[in-house]
Amino acid sequence: MNVTVRGRGRAHRTVTFDAARNEVRLIEQRLLPHEFKIIGTRDYPETAAAIRDMIVRGAGAIGATAAYGFAQGVRAFRGRGMAAFERRADLVFRTLAEARPTAVDPVNAMLGIRAVMKKGATVTEQQDLALGAAEAFAEEDVRHCREIGEHGLELIRDGMRILTHCNAGWLAFVDIGSATAPMYAAHAAGRKFHVFTDETRPRSQGASLTAWELSQQGIPHHVIADNAAGHLMQRGEIDLVIVGADRVLGRTGEVANKIGTYTKAVLAHRHVIPFYVAIPLSTLDWNLAGGADIPIEERAPEEVLGAWGVTRSGKREWVRIADPASTARNPGFDVTPAELITGIITPLGIFKPRELARRRKHLEAAVAKG
Ligand code: MRU
Repeated sequence: MNVTVRGRGRAHRTVTFDAARNEVRLIEQRLLPHEFKIIGTRDYPETAAAIRDMIVRGAGAIGATAAYGFAQGVRAFRGRGMAAFERRADLVFRTLAEARPTAVDPVNAMLGIRAVMKKGATVTEQQDLALGAAEAFAEEDVRHCREIGEHGLELIRDGMRILTHCNAGWLAFVDIGSATAPMYAAHAAGRKFHVFTDETRPRSQGASLTAWELSQQGIPHHVIADNAAGHLMQRGEIDLVIVGADRVLGRTGEVANKIGTYTKAVLAHRHVIPFYVAIPLSTLDWNLAGGADIPIEERAPEEVLGAWGVTRSGKREWVRIADPASTARNPGFDVTPAELITGIITPLGIFKPRELARRRKHLEAAVAKG
């Protein structure tokens, strides 16, 4: 998307790859909205650390980062023989997959690359195929987000007030975003609407990232405290909810997304407000039988006990909010059941959550086609 920094506008993607340097290039999202900086990771452990430490975050973006990180790791192989190469590929895969467990996109991306690599007979051929497949994954992510926008556009009418949670914007993907794709499409079509973005404690992705994205695109919005949505719904001030997802179970239609999503879905149901989840096809999981099986990342207690911000002198600092003797629980995600979800906005159209299972062949064929 277009980013204006100190008066100069330029199109950026969240994740790119410098093949000559074998380097993954990432927007340092922890500095936003205060500073726009691009960093490079020189090897796959650094790429995994960038995912784990949330330099890059969001399902599609960490999917593409893992894809490039996987290609980076196998391209750096200097050993001899296919058996040693495959052992290296296994290690790179595991390291990147374990960096963040809830989003399924990194695993789906790397499995797709491994399937393509099998077509190569030599190590060099497989290394080249890995990079090509990683590039294809990133391009597909962009295309899927564009198609989500085309299908989701019909949901947004003039005058609507839309609630979103966390950041499922272009920073959470390679470009465009999932939950924001219908908003960007509606904005481009000249529709007038207002967005409420939950601040999304503890990491505040709504306040720091979604709000920044919307400001950059000139979309009117308010950041609201996480607990304000119920009040606004009760007063008739929210017409539509669109969120993203880190994993959607194809078999049941359950949705894992940033902690607090379930609460918003319950509230939307209570107030008969349509609740949509927007996803590219890489976010679908056809393996798990139910939401209780989804690995929910437990993050550091410090995220809850304090907050990161930038001081008046421009220094990025963590400040403690909670009582010094208190500890915290910090589950990063929750699971929303299918019955609370009005529809899943996909690149192939908008489906009821339980319709996904019936459309499995169709959805899987679209993934295989690429
Ligand atoms: O912890 P994060 O920032 O990586 O969380 C992911 C998210 O941004 C949200 O859960 C988002 O709504 C879905 S990811 C597109």
